[in-house]
Amino acid sequence: TQTYRIASIPGDGIGPEVVAEARTVLDAVLASEGARADYADYDLGARRWHATGETLPDSVLEELRGVDAILLGAVGDPSVPSGVLERGLLLRLRFELDHYVNLRPSKLFAGATTPLAGSPQIDFVVVREGTEGPYVGNGGAIRVGTPHEVANEVSVNTAYGVERVVRDAFARAQRRERKHLTLVHKNNVLVHAGHLWARTVAAVAPEFPDVTTDYLHVDAATIFLVTKPERFDVIVTDNLFGDILTDLAAAVTGGIGLAASGNVNPDRTTPSMFEPVHGSAPDIAGTGVADPTAAILSTALLLDHLGLSAAAARVEAAVEADLAARGPAPRSTREVGEAVLARLQG
Ligand code: NAD
Ligand code: IPM
Ligand code: MN
Repeated sequence: TQTYRIASIPGDGIGPEVVAEARTVLDAVLASEGARADYADYDLGARRWHATGETLPDSVLEELRGVDAILLGAVGDPSVPSGVLERGLLLRLRFELDHYVNLRPSKLFAGATTPLAGSPQIDFVVVREGTEGPYVGNGGAIRVGTPHEVANEVSVNTAYGVERVVRDAFARAQRRERKHLTLVHKNNVLVHAGHLWARTVAAVAPEFPDVTTDYLHVDAATIFLVTKPERFDVIVTDNLFGDILTDLAAAVTGGIGLAASGNVNPDRTTPSMFEPVHGSAPDIAGTGVADPTAAILSTALLLDHLGLSAAAARVEAAVEADLAARGPAPRSTREVGEAVLARLQG
């Protein structure tokens, strides 16, 4: 039996609730492929921080480097100062493991409800840069708490970092039917970074002559995501714009409970990490109503990354069938997990 070593980091809030369902589905699909997952469980998150002050110990990070993939739930808790776990755990993982492609597909499945008029064909993927931009912590504040406070977060964009993610986005566009790439930035204002991104797209484009490209300022991109989402195929954008656009993209394709993501190192020098786009949802944590679909679809991205594309397609098909059959009655996290499992096995 082929065994995959999977690190499981359920994290905070609804993280453990949705990861439990995702693991059940992952186990079932692997079993039917004659394979299995061997989990390494990590209790990282709010409880660990309160107990020991640790967010991501170096020893854990070194262990994680040895696994085949990481499955993460969500991090962040109201009892922990905002940013401690988000930066110290989640972003540290993305940065240390060089997850420069934050892959966030958006597809409007039949049966999913969109707030948009009509039933637009929505099927695009956001390739969000994952290791640079305003996220790197290049900043600081002086005179904190005074009327003269100055607080800076300086976005870092390197030619190396932009080029590798842009090239990956082109390659993904080339593998898709429509072969269209949209760069989203704000180069009418953020002229330094924005022009680097635009020049990079122009420079890489000749390597992918069958891929068409266009450009949108991020504010206009939010308009089109709502009024004409079918115009998008692959979007490449920086870390912060990608974060914001993908919550909006989730909202128009069935909701945040369905949106999956992969933090990918395409060079495979480190394990990639798969997680829902959503957070720990403290407002519903513990009530058993979180939708585990995003976490389940994240395992499809994980399977795909491990080369198990047939298994990935089966998970996606099971989710699609479940969505198509969903009635108006609310279902619990467990019920959704069990329904997807039944579709998978049925
Ligand atoms: P959130 O995504 O946790 O929640 C936003 C809204 O969506 C809430 O009303 C929540 O109930 C709802 N929601 C989220 N996931 C859902 C699901 N699976 N099913 C049904 N409803 C769902 O975002 P937030 O409230 O801005 O952040 C809460 C905490 O999570 C913060 O600490 C934040 O830093 C953290 N966060 C972590 C991640 C991550 O781990 N990748 C992502 C986003 C936010
Ligand atoms: C996400 C989250 C994270 C991000 C936070 C929690 C650091 O919002 O995964 O979308 O901004 O990337
Ligand atoms: Mn986000």
